[in-house]
Amino acid sequence: MGRPALLVTTVIPGFDPAMLPRNFDCRTTEVGVLNNDELLSRTEGNDAVACTLVSKISAEFLQRFPRLKMVANIAVGYDNIDVTAATKYGVIVSNTPGVLDSATADLAFTLLLSIARRIPEAERYLRAGQWKSFGLDLLTGAGVFGKTIGLVGFGRIGQAMAARSLGFSMRVLYSQRNRASLETERKYGATYVSLEELLRNSDFVSVHCPLTAETRYLFNDDRLSMMKEGAFLINTARGAVVEESALIRALQTGKIAGAALDVFENEPAVSPHLLTLPNVVLVPHIGSATTETRKAMALLALSSIDKAFSGVQPENLVNPEVWTIFLKKLAADGLVRT
Ligand code: NAP
Ligand code: GLV
Repeated sequence: MGRPALLVTTVIPGFDPAMLPRNFDCRTTEVGVLNNDELLSRTEGNDAVACTLVSKISAEFLQRFPRLKMVANIAVGYDNIDVTAATKYGVIVSNTPGVLDSATADLAFTLLLSIARRIPEAERYLRAGQWKSFGLDLLTGAGVFGKTIGLVGFGRIGQAMAARSLGFSMRVLYSQRNRASLETERKYGATYVSLEELLRNSDFVSVHCPLTAETRYLFNDDRLSMMKEGAFLINTARGAVVEESALIRALQTGKIAGAALDVFENEPAVSPHLLTLPNVVLVPHIGSATTETRKAMALLALSSIDKAFSGVQPENLVNPEVWTIFLKKLAADGLVRT
């Protein structure tokens, strides 16, 4: 039985390929994350790639490397991967659901509180030596307790956000294509509404849906204009769910009170207009960035690869329909016991 070749495109602190029960011929990078050119030049001959969301796994890429059998995304979102093409070429794709819900919802709620209470602005003010005295009108913000939150996407992270909102006695509205179970709604006191109703009634709108063809620019001029006067937008989902230029217009005209963003349309580039606005909080895609969560994500991705190449179907495949094709490819390349 041969050894599968595995390319890990990112440094994983503390990772040693010997930790994997299956014996892999593992290559990785010494520093940071491989860029797309490096990925292209290093994928040839590999059976599996463990990558992050910066890797563009396009149809052309998949066609170019016929030996490739699995792509394990170290992220729950997989909009960087052309899953339709992967399915066409019989490549299984896995992601990392569940292990990052708390960290991401914690960050989303941190952003909500930060924009409502103007925390970065207040800190900049203090550090700049502008603070001369206590003032009743100094840096007053918006209250959070008892307000209404609208969750666009009420899956794992949306529900984790609802749990945090309950601690602040918030009314929870949610919108997505399918209604959640009554049990889930009761658990979070959540009400299913249309997107328009959500936008018209929420003091805080928090985005938790994946980036798909349907959600790209879901927040455009039209939708942003439906938001309540004085409302805030929090985005920890994907940048392109919000049309950045429309958001900037809504912020500049005061249509919405503020936005707190972890994700951007053209990461790592951030629109210079956003950088000049006082009513935004901007952080560099750190939703899942706790040490323990990043470790859990990497371990889940690697153990999914390990399982798959040991002939056990991982639960977290996003295209499980190609599992039997994958097994046939393993056999054809002499990677299973016969
Ligand atoms: P999930 O459990 O699959 O939940 C996503 C929810 O979005 C589903 O309940 C789905 O419900 C809803 N949805 C899908 N299409 C929709 C549409 N067109 N309009 C409204 N809602 C829609 O996913 P998750 O684990 O919560 O993750 C959500 C996303 O968060 C990921 O895809 C990723 O992009 C992002 N994320 C970001 C970070 C970060 O670091 N900032 C970390 C983790 C995740 P329906 O199918 O019923 O519509
Ligand atoms: C991060 O953005 C993820 O999708 O896990």
